[in-house]
Amino acid sequence: MFIHGSGENSNLWKEQFEDLNLKYNLISIDLPSHGNSESVSDLSLELYVNVINGLIETLQIKKVILCGHSLGGAIAQSYYFNYPQNVKALILVGTGGRLRVSPVILNALKSDFQEYLESIPLAAFYIKTNKSIINAIIEDTSRIPQEVVYTDFSICDRFDTLDKTNTINIPCLIIIGKQDKLTPLKYSTFFNEKIKNSKLVVIDKAAHMVMLEKPDEFNKAIQEFIENHLENK
Ligand code: COA
Repeated sequence: MFIHGSGENSNLWKEQFEDLNLKYNLISIDLPSHGNSESVSDLSLELYVNVINGLIETLQIKKVILCGHSLGGAIAQSYYFNYPQNVKALILVGTGGRLRVSPVILNALKSDFQEYLESIPLAAFYIKTNKSIINAIIEDTSRIPQEVVYTDFSICDRFDTLDKTNTINIPCLIIIGKQDKLTPLKYSTFFNEKIKNSKLVVIDKAAHMVMLEKPDEFNKAIQEFIENHLENK
């Protein structure tokens, strides 16, 4: 189950659906107030975790592999801390156990949404990323209400479970774009040092949007992780 990050929607994972969907049962959700999901007031980390739990219960999934990006990674970790028995493995992509947000981002999101949207190419993407990939993300983000994107980043800013990272005791794949500026490599190496059963994959010439920037390497990492760490185990 794929969980997108702040100001994103389920389209984020379209390259994974193109490829991995033939082999696995993939689910990609639009969080409340994002994409095609209903608008909800009082968004919070707890609400996002409850929505994931509701979906897992409704679909009667016994053991889920949760793959979360950025805020989605915070949701995946929180879900695991609340419902460890339901999670087979975690895939943590461009995220961290603590996700402080620059005041520059929060201020832009409070005052000038256009300024925030214009900052996305440099902040979130590797410099040589194809413009069409970048524009598609900006287009999707521009459709999400400004206050929702602000709330997402505020949730990230408050998120801190660094003291619990070493209690994660299921297989964990950590994927990071080497040039990620929003959730630097250090956050992922921290995961890898603290989580016993983890594998770190660093993808060069990619930044925060690594799943779109280097889909082949990204999908290969997931496939190898499932084949080598999870299948028949
Ligand atoms: N994993 C491991 N270490 C982490 C961490 C994580 N997830 N999050 C923070 N740390 C470390 C930092 O590297 C730093 O270590 P250092 O003192 O040895 O350099 C320390 O914890 C404190 O960092 P932080 O909590 O981030 O506070 P800060 O006041 O130093 O910096 C920001 C605050 C906002 C400037 C900084 O977090 C930043 O630049 N963030 C990235 C940009 C951003 O906004 N990203 C959006 C994320 S959704």
